[in-house]
Amino acid sequence: MDFKIRNICCIGAGYVGGPTMSVIADHCPHIKVNVVDKNEDRIKLWNSQNFKNLPIYEPGLDKVVERCRGKNLFFSTNIKESIASADMIFISVNTPTKKKGIGAGQASDLKWVEACARQVAKYAKGPTIVVEKSTLPVKTAEVIKTILEASQSEFNISENYSSFHVLSNPEFLAEGSAIKDLEKPDRVLIGGENKEAINALSDIYKSWVPKKKILHTNIWSSELAKLTANAFLAQRISSINSIGALCEATGADVREVARAIGTDSRIGSKFLDSGPGFGGSCFKKDILNLVYLSKHFGLYEVANFWESVVNLNNWHQHRISKLIVKKLFGTVSGKRIYILGFAFKANTNDTRESAAISICKDLLEEGAILSIYDPKVELKQIENDLGCKGMKAIKNYDKSQNYSIEGQWSFSENINDGFDRADAVLVLTEWKIFSKINWNAVSKKMRKPSWVFDARSIISEENVLEANINLWKIGDGTRI
Ligand code: NAD
Ligand code: UGA
Repeated sequence: MDFKIRNICCIGAGYVGGPTMSVIADHCPHIKVNVVDKNEDRIKLWNSQNFKNLPIYEPGLDKVVERCRGKNLFFSTNIKESIASADMIFISVNTPTKKKGIGAGQASDLKWVEACARQVAKYAKGPTIVVEKSTLPVKTAEVIKTILEASQSEFNISENYSSFHVLSNPEFLAEGSAIKDLEKPDRVLIGGENKEAINALSDIYKSWVPKKKILHTNIWSSELAKLTANAFLAQRISSINSIGALCEATGADVREVARAIGTDSRIGSKFLDSGPGFGGSCFKKDILNLVYLSKHFGLYEVANFWESVVNLNNWHQHRISKLIVKKLFGTVSGKRIYILGFAFKANTNDTRESAAISICKDLLEEGAILSIYDPKVELKQIENDLGCKGMKAIKNYDKSQNYSIEGQWSFSENINDGFDRADAVLVLTEWKIFSKINWNAVSKKMRKPSWVFDARSIISEENVLEANINLWKIGDGTRI
């Protein structure tokens, strides 16, 4: 049968569901797109009058939402009604690493996906295409199918007939460039069995994506390709960061090494920026998922290979905090360190698995007094991540303030608020404004000897050194 898609429901209004559905609505004015979530606060923010208050910061997203919201794009908590009226349902819920039980620490927790499948089974009407948008372990489509089929007999009374086709359509967008990635994807991947269902989903993408970029595979290849893509990308970062450490020890410069190898077209120049270690909600979780899967199939060498990519990343993050302690005469106790950047990368307000979390925790544990500034991350979020309360920074340093107690941190609302009496500045996210700091002016506020630790290679080396500040730059062994 031919499917005519007029009504889409997306379950999960997060970093993937929100932007992806907004772009679909923008390119397919003939389709009504309902994005639903059980989180009322999140939905309220998606419906904010002021488009700057959307729950997700993503360059260009506000403009797309402004064009479509209220026309053919709707955000609500009406899960039941939206499922019932949909011809196609995207499952775009979170799939974090399991915290307890079998597979804890490695396997994906599929309880939200399963809950979605049960909701779809209960409320869907008529022929419905169910699309896995979340990143899932291989064979999850089978679980979804089983739940849908089992419940068909349970809920299907004749006037409420439904039938299902399950497709895998993993998302490859990166946060911070989501709209750009969705508008001009390298490829769209669709895995499935039923030709008509695959065509129906392809037709949606064909509204703006060239046909040759839409790849069709079997459902298991599609699920596995998503995990593999993230594992390969993360592997590049662990590889370059391992070489960065070697550069620091030998007098080489990791940027020069990266340029030299990146010009080999077989290797390519992208994803070779050495940094404080990869963060984000997906790399670690998806590689660990691959590790778990490999172990499940008895492929222990494969599991060890991929696990080492994550282990190296953990080691690398602690390496940075350790070397800061070492450079600051072996102790940071009672010393003030200004942290610039808390998000896991620039152009996002997302802090999930950010390297800043483990590095800040290490430094607090050592007794440092931290000030933290990020252009898009809020105080409450940092409190959640560090598991302890922070205070608002007070502009001019005042010894009587209790925020200068060892192991405490404060939140700077303005970039200028945290330099006073700081022993060191640590750059952890590559926000553009950090490259424009006037180090000459800053140096007058800092305690001597002052240090800049640049874990993102975005600070002007010349300006820092001219301002008589010591500089450590990731992967730079040229000053040893
Ligand atoms: P997220 O946590 O930002 O959003 C998920 C949303 O789903 C939450 O708002 C949650 O309230 C909602 N939800 C969970 N269960 C629900 C239910 N039963 N009914 C209604 N709503 C429910 O997650 P995300 O970052 O958007 O990631 C979603 C999936 O996409 C994950 O599998 C992730 O691996 C994958 N992915 C993420 C990215 C990314 O850059 N964040 C990129 C590609 C793929
Ligand atoms: C990543 C992938 O790039 C997306 O294709 C994928 O869809 C997504 O995961 C997912 O499945 O969630 P994302 O985590 O948003 O996207 O961000 P990336 O740009 O990949 O960065 C991840 C981490 O690696 C960041 O901490 C970043 O700073 C770091 N990184 C990236 C480097 O240290 N060096 C680089 O050269 C590139």
